[in-house]
Amino acid sequence: MNRSVCVIGAGPSGITAAKNFKEQQCDVTVYDYGTSVGGNWHFDDVSGHSSVFETTHLISSRFTSEYEDYPLPPGTPDYPSHAQLLAYFKGYADHFGVTPLVQFQTLVKACIQEQDGRWRVTSERLGVAQTATFDALVVCNGHHWKPRWPEYPGTFTGEYLHSHTFKRAAPFAGKRVLVIGGGNSACDIAVETSRVAASTDISWRRGYFLAPKFMFGQPSDRFYFQLNFIPISIRTKATQFLLNLMQGRNSSIGLQDPDHKFGQTHPTVNSELYYMVRHGRVRPRVDIAHFDGRMVQFTDGSSAEYDVVIAATGYWIDHPFFDRSVIDFSAGQVPLYLRFLPASVRHLYFIGLFQPLGCIWPGAELQSKLAARHLRGTWRAPSNIDARIKKQIAHPEYNQLRTPRHTITVDDINFRKRLRAELKRSTSADSSH
Ligand SMILES: Cc1cc2nc3c(=O)[nH]c(=O)nc-3n(C[C@H](O)[C@H](O)[C@H](O)COP(=O)(O)OP(=O)(O)OC[C@H]3O[C@@H](n4cnc5c(N)ncnc54)[C@H](O)[C@@H]3O)c2cc1C
Ligand SMILES: NC(=O)c1ccc[n+]([C@@H]2O[C@H](COP(=O)([O-])OP(=O)(O)OC[C@H]3O[C@@H](n4cnc5c(N)ncnc54)[C@H](OP(=O)(O)O)[C@@H]3O)[C@@H](O)[C@H]2O)c1
Repeated sequence: MNRSVCVIGAGPSGITAAKNFKEQQCDVTVYDYGTSVGGNWHFDDVSGHSSVFETTHLISSRFTSEYEDYPLPPGTPDYPSHAQLLAYFKGYADHFGVTPLVQFQTLVKACIQEQDGRWRVTSERLGVAQTATFDALVVCNGHHWKPRWPEYPGTFTGEYLHSHTFKRAAPFAGKRVLVIGGGNSACDIAVETSRVAASTDISWRRGYFLAPKFMFGQPSDRFYFQLNFIPISIRTKATQFLLNLMQGRNSSIGLQDPDHKFGQTHPTVNSELYYMVRHGRVRPRVDIAHFDGRMVQFTDGSSAEYDVVIAATGYWIDHPFFDRSVIDFSAGQVPLYLRFLPASVRHLYFIGLFQPLGCIWPGAELQSKLAARHLRGTWRAPSNIDARIKKQIAHPEYNQLRTPRHTITVDDINFRKRLRAELKRSTSADSSH
């Protein structure tokens, strides 16, 4: 008999999960509270889930950012826009018959495992509550949607927003803007607002390596992937050396030098921030000490007045539909074998809950293939996954800074290799890898 499977979310991870469980003869139902597939890449969706903005283009290039079962269309630029990606995800979902499986505008509110191991899922569709029971639950709700705000003494009385709600630069025309953070959101937003604002400052609590989008005439991640035969420690050292050589030191243009090695923070890929700093359009600032009305005091003793502060300080991992005593990954480590399989909860899979130095959906695709085979019984996890998870947490591939955004990092190259190797171990009952 076919197993029934509930997939939460129809973003890039959810659609590949649905496709791959369907291909393993499961009856799949997908719930998504948005109005189309694409998740984060559905820029103007009324659900408010998406965190991309008007000018967002990928930071992982087309060479590393396609499902292996569905190539990006010919003519795709090196770094596609959010609109091009949305079209790609819609094409994928239509091509593999996933779209009709999705119940849109349906918010999953509670998932409870019953005595017999099945999952009772309560959701709300256009205001009406509904409940259904499934053999397995596949969680693909994303991890870049719940704003993580910084905390400072005092109060800022101007406009204060999180990068999640930043959609375009136009509303900030003529204003004095301060952006907080050194990740991809902060650097993109600082660059975009600096084109129209009266002034744009960026506050970093540490220095960062910024990787340009292109190195040696090709997208930087393509270059990095070509070094895949080199161990991570040498690969990162070589990259750091090249970045310093090509771009010079941050401190020579007023930015802080990194207090860590390349790879110890999630990479910021941005070719324009240095350019804007060097054109006087973006002014570097250090960490914030406190707010006082419209004044912001920095830790180096300087201060300035702003109309707008944009906190691009990242996101919480959250699964609000679980009882927190069963699943709560919001603080600390995320104990999942191959980043998708819990050791002690049955018939539960998490897809896309990892942060690659690269692109998420190709890894999510491979995770989905394995998870579907796990449910079907044609791939078995090792018996000691608990010990393996503990080892993975104790010995991460990248020894990253202990800040909240660094709990789920994987090396994209090695992660894909490991998942592919596991897929090869699935039994001969299954030939469709
Ligand atoms: C600005 C920005 C740029 C990015 N650029 C890149 C990039 O270049 N490369 C890269 O690999 N990644 C990038 N990311 C990361 C991004 O998370 C992934 O690209 C991708 O969207 C992850 O797919 P997902 O399906 O796991 O999650 P999401 O895309 O977030 O999709 C989750 C889906 O679940 C649904 N959902 C959530 N909760 C519920 C619920 N309770 N009930 C029903 N439905 C629910 C949502 O409506 C959504 O459709 C970027 C992120 C941001 C914010
Ligand atoms: N163009 C694109 O494709 C694009 C654009 C935006 C985002 N993204 C992706 O979206 C995801 C989220 O990126 P993000 O930039 O929004 O978040 P992020 O990667 O979590 O970066 C958050 C930044 O804010 C800093 N920070 C956090 N808390 C702080 C505090 N209390 N005070 C001061 N600084 C603080 C962090 O510092 P630490 O270094 O100390 O942690 C980090 O510099 C990433 O995967 C990213 O690659 C991609």
